[in-house]
Amino acid sequence: MDAISVIRAKRDGHALTEAHIDWIIDAYTRGEVADEQMSALAMAVYLNGMDRAEIARWTAAMIASGERMDFGSLPRATADKHSTGGVGDKITLPLAPLVAACGAAVPQLSGRGLGHTGGTLDKLESIPGWRASLSNEEMLDVLRDVGSVICAAGDGLAPADKRLYALRDVTGTVESIPLIASSIMSKKIAEGTGSLVLDVKAGSGAFMKNLDDARELAATMVELGTDHGVRTVALLTDMSTPLGRTAGNALEVRESVEVLAGGGPADVVELTVALAREMLDGAGLGDADPAKALADGRAMDVWRRMIAAQGGDPDAPLPRAREQHVITAPSSGVLTRLDAYAVGLCAWRLGAGRARKEDPVQAGAGVELHARPGDRVLAGAPLMTLHTDTPETFSYAEAALAGAYEVGPSEAFEPSPLILDRIA
Ligand code: URA
Repeated sequence: MDAISVIRAKRDGHALTEAHIDWIIDAYTRGEVADEQMSALAMAVYLNGMDRAEIARWTAAMIASGERMDFGSLPRATADKHSTGGVGDKITLPLAPLVAACGAAVPQLSGRGLGHTGGTLDKLESIPGWRASLSNEEMLDVLRDVGSVICAAGDGLAPADKRLYALRDVTGTVESIPLIASSIMSKKIAEGTGSLVLDVKAGSGAFMKNLDDARELAATMVELGTDHGVRTVALLTDMSTPLGRTAGNALEVRESVEVLAGGGPADVVELTVALAREMLDGAGLGDADPAKALADGRAMDVWRRMIAAQGGDPDAPLPRAREQHVITAPSSGVLTRLDAYAVGLCAWRLGAGRARKEDPVQAGAGVELHARPGDRVLAGAPLMTLHTDTPETFSYAEAALAGAYEVGPSEAFEPSPLILDRIA
């Protein structure tokens, strides 16, 4: 077998054979296939797609490229959640301790942010002392002692995906349903969770801008999980406007702690509880009441122990950016629209996100929203506060918001549900 014949087959619109797929993923992982050849193949897949059988084989080959974890020794059933990413999506932070407080074990392997969406690890790293990198043994210890752990995936898990995702990121081949589905599911299946809930986002702030594409991605991933014996369910959720009132690392941790304290924005609470119910169902704990565990402080207790078990101080003040700039409402009325992508881009330009994998992020940078779509605003009243340590970015960041929000009469506001569909 050779790389050129695999590339040509996909370039010419043919389905790849099992032998093609097994060989190319294995050879790429071993360094025998060059990055430029794999880029050409990723672009051919981006343009010509893959059928379900190809996606299944591609996913299996990526799983086989590395180790598989096993949580069989834990006394609790495991449940995991994956979000396809969005602006202000801090749900993992309250969700993991909440589900653990209700009796499941939550091994949450998470990532860093790239581009306009934030990464869970970047958010948690704004907590003084908190450590994202744990050995497999440390991860199991935290899971056993606390019930939930949020940490970086080890290098041994689906290494083919690690290399391929980095390559797709710089070759314009991320937004392909077969490549996204196989990338996400290879890591989740290799991780060894018993059940999985997918939060597949649709809207301007998501990978999938429209609901039909999000539905296809969700159905592909549910089928892959189910075929590998992982109970998998997907919720399709709205990402046309940011989740909650903050986008940025420490800002989102603060908001998550508010949710764990029984408060926080209604949309963040709604999605956290809905995903918790699905995860608990998948773990065979459908009788548990996550809304109660949030209200009575049990989830907060697990959060504090989880942060401390990973070296963090749950009582330490969170970093605050050195400079703030307030954007005011242009007129009085109702905020009828606030675009998620623009807010994410603004937060990223302020320093909350990175342009390249190796770039640092600012813990305190980001956007704080004083109004959400549907809220009444007064002309001249604060609409958003921009936070950064690098005030020279204010005008560039504010430019991202041009045309991103509208204030109008209340009839012009069309509320949209947060949870759009469920696929099982
Ligand atoms: N997240 C992943 O892990 N992989 C993708 O391809 C896209 C998002």
